[in-house]
Amino acid sequence: LAKKEQDMPLKNKKVLVTAGPTREPLDPFRFITNYSSGKMGYAIAAEARKMGADVILISGPTNITPPKGVKVIYVETAQQMFEEVLKYYGDIDIVIKAAAVSDYRPVAYSNKKIKKQNEVNIELIKNPDILFELGKLKKHQVLVGFAAETNNLEEYAMEKLKSKNLDMIVVNEIGQKDSGFANDTNIIQIITNKGEKISYPKLDKGECAINILKKTLEFLKQVD
Ligand code: CTP
Ligand code: CA
Repeated sequence: LAKKEQDMPLKNKKVLVTAGPTREPLDPFRFITNYSSGKMGYAIAAEARKMGADVILISGPTNITPPKGVKVIYVETAQQMFEEVLKYYGDIDIVIKAAAVSDYRPVAYSNKKIKKQNEVNIELIKNPDILFELGKLKKHQVLVGFAAETNNLEEYAMEKLKSKNLDMIVVNEIGQKDSGFANDTNIIQIITNKGEKISYPKLDKGECAINILKKTLEFLKQVD
């Protein structure tokens, strides 16, 4: 049965989603990463597809089966994610950066296994802030970021909304039983550059994804 037109509000729209953690290698079998499961980003990609969008999902390593009908590009490091995102950015209508990008990477990569020593110092260097760079390059794109925080949620999220030139930011409390990494549910708040703050109750990540996407519709530039 064909879906009704009102169920496909993202028809002919291109949506780019990033999801999951990045991995920053130290040697052939060690890396720096974080607890991101990728569930939130994959849920957004799946719901965007159901709403009719052409979806590109740029994903760090996860254990999730990709949603049907979505183009998936797998990456490992922040640098790789940055390069892939830039390839598509110019042509995209909505970018949703749900990935938990590692802020740092080891300065040196060792081709050989790093041997056990009494004391080890690992020098780290900052990764590119992908979202910040996208904010600088922004033209017609609707740019949506995430803020994963343990404390001062609103304050930090507002700073990121402004400094990264976002249209909206999804605030996400991590380190809690019912929200954040690895959970099937999330408690989110959306803050927009129009000054709106919307708090949602505890919801399934699929329902969170629908709320996030519905809100982005208000920011789509009318090009018809
Ligand atoms: N982000 C990114 N590239 C980075 C770091 C973060 O694109 N190198 C994006 C994330 O995908 C997310 C948003 O920026 O959408 C916020 O990430 P977060 O880690 O909460 O904020 P940071 O700016 O990295 O600041 P901090 O970690 O100090 O809170
Ligand atoms: Ca960070």
